[in-house]
Amino acid sequence: MSDWKKTDWRSKPRIQMPDYTDAAALADAEAKLSKYPPLVFAGEARRLRSHLAKAARGEAFLLQGGDCAESFDQFSADGIRDTFKVMLQMAMVLTYGAKVPVIKVGRMAGQFAKPRSAATETVGGVELPSYRGDIINRLEFTPEARIPDPANMLQAYTQSAATLNLIRAFSTGGYADVNQVHAWTLGFTDGEKAARYREVAARITDTLDFMAAAGVNQDTAHTLQSVEFYTSHESLLLEYEEALTRLDTTSGKWLAGSGHMIWIGDRTRQPDGAHVEFARGVLNPIGLKCGPTTTADDLKRLMATLNPANEAGRLTLIARFGAGKVGEHLPRLIKAVREEGANVVWTCDAMHGNTIKSASGYKTRPFDSVLREVREFFAIHRAEGTVPGGVHFEMTGQDVTECTGGVRAVTEEDLSDRYHTACDPRLNADQALELAFLVAEELSALRLDRMARAAG
Ligand code: PEP
Ligand code: CO
Repeated sequence: MSDWKKTDWRSKPRIQMPDYTDAAALADAEAKLSKYPPLVFAGEARRLRSHLAKAARGEAFLLQGGDCAESFDQFSADGIRDTFKVMLQMAMVLTYGAKVPVIKVGRMAGQFAKPRSAATETVGGVELPSYRGDIINRLEFTPEARIPDPANMLQAYTQSAATLNLIRAFSTGGYADVNQVHAWTLGFTDGEKAARYREVAARITDTLDFMAAAGVNQDTAHTLQSVEFYTSHESLLLEYEEALTRLDTTSGKWLAGSGHMIWIGDRTRQPDGAHVEFARGVLNPIGLKCGPTTTADDLKRLMATLNPANEAGRLTLIARFGAGKVGEHLPRLIKAVREEGANVVWTCDAMHGNTIKSASGYKTRPFDSVLREVREFFAIHRAEGTVPGGVHFEMTGQDVTECTGGVRAVTEEDLSDRYHTACDPRLNADQALELAFLVAEELSALRLDRMARAAG
C-alpha cells in the first residue's frame, strides 16, 4: 500500500480514544514504543492469513477467544496457562466435529483497550470518565485513576511480550501434546452432569489409541506435541498501534507488530474514520465486527477499503447480533457479500449481542443465549449455502462466575462469588468447553449434510 502512511489515521475523525492531557508523556511513550521490537513477525501474520483463507472455504475453522479485557492486576502465569489450555481442549473437540484443522487465535497479549457505550460513569451521584481498559486508565472509581496515562502503553507492551513468550513456550514445549489435552477433557466429561458429552470424548480416545497403535505418534510427534497459536486484539488505541507498526522488508508492506490479527470494533467501523484508515494499510488479517446497525452499503464500502484485492483470509466478518436477531441481519449481510463476490471468513461472536443486567446488578450473559446465537448462525449459513467459518468467545480458563448457565450451572445468585472481569462477563472453563462440544455437534451435522448433498 504505497500511498498509505501509518500516521494517516491522525487526520481522520476518531472516536473512543482518550484525550491525553500530558503531551510530553504521550510523546515519550510513543518514542519508547517505536524503538521496542514488534511482538509478532510478518511471516506469522501471513501464515495466519493463509489458514484463514482455508476457513473461508470451509477447510479450516477459526476459534477465537479470551478475555474481554486483559488486566494488569490479574496478570499471572496461571491465568495465561488456563486460558491457553481450555482453548486447546476446545480446539480438539471442534476438530473432532469439523474434521478440519482448527485455527487457534487468542484474545490475548494485547487485548487491553475498550470502547465504551457511555463516556462517563455515575456512582452515588459522582460522575467520572469511563474506564477504557488498563492500557488507558484504571478501573478504580477515583478521578486520578480515570485520567488516561500514556505510560500504561509501556506496561501493556511488557505484559503482552511476557504473555506471548509464555504462549510460545507452551505451544512448542510439550504442554500442548494431544494426549495430555484430551486427558484434561476427560476430566470434564467424567463429571456426572457432563455425561452427554462422554460419547464424543470416548470416540476421541479411540482415535488417539488407534493413532498410537498405528505408530502415528512416533512419526509425527512434532505435529502432535506442538500447536500454532496466534494472538489478536481490537485495534482501538491507535497511538499504540502506530508505534508498533513496522515495515516488512520482505514484502515492502506494513505490519501491525502488536499482534497477529487485529479487529475493528462495532463502534469504530465508520468507513471514513481513523480506525478503518489504520487497518486498511497493514498486512495483518483484519477482523470487522458486524452488528445490527451495520448496513449493507457500509459493509460493501468497508470490504472494498479493507480488502481491495479481495484476498482470501484477509478479512474476517465477526457477526454479533444477539440471539433471536441473527435471522434479521445475517441474511442481508450475506447478500451484500455475495453481491460483491467478496472473499470473507464469517465467524460468530456470540457474546456481545447477549449482555444483560442481572437482578443483582451484575452484567451477565446466559449460556443458553450464547448457544442460541451460535445455532442461529449455523442454521442461516446452512440455509444460504455459505460457510460458517468460526466462533468468537469471551472466556477464561479460570473458574469464574460471570455468565449464567451451563451443566455446572452458574445461577444469578452465584455471580457475586467469583466475578473478576475488568469489563464484560466471560464464559468459565467448563462453560467454554461445553460450548465447544455443542458447536462440534453443529459442525458435524453440517459435514454430514454436505456429504449427503455431494452424494446426491
Ligand atoms: C469486544 O469484542 O470486546 C467488543 C467491544 O465488541 P464489539 O465491538 O463487537 O462491541
Ligand atoms: Co467484550
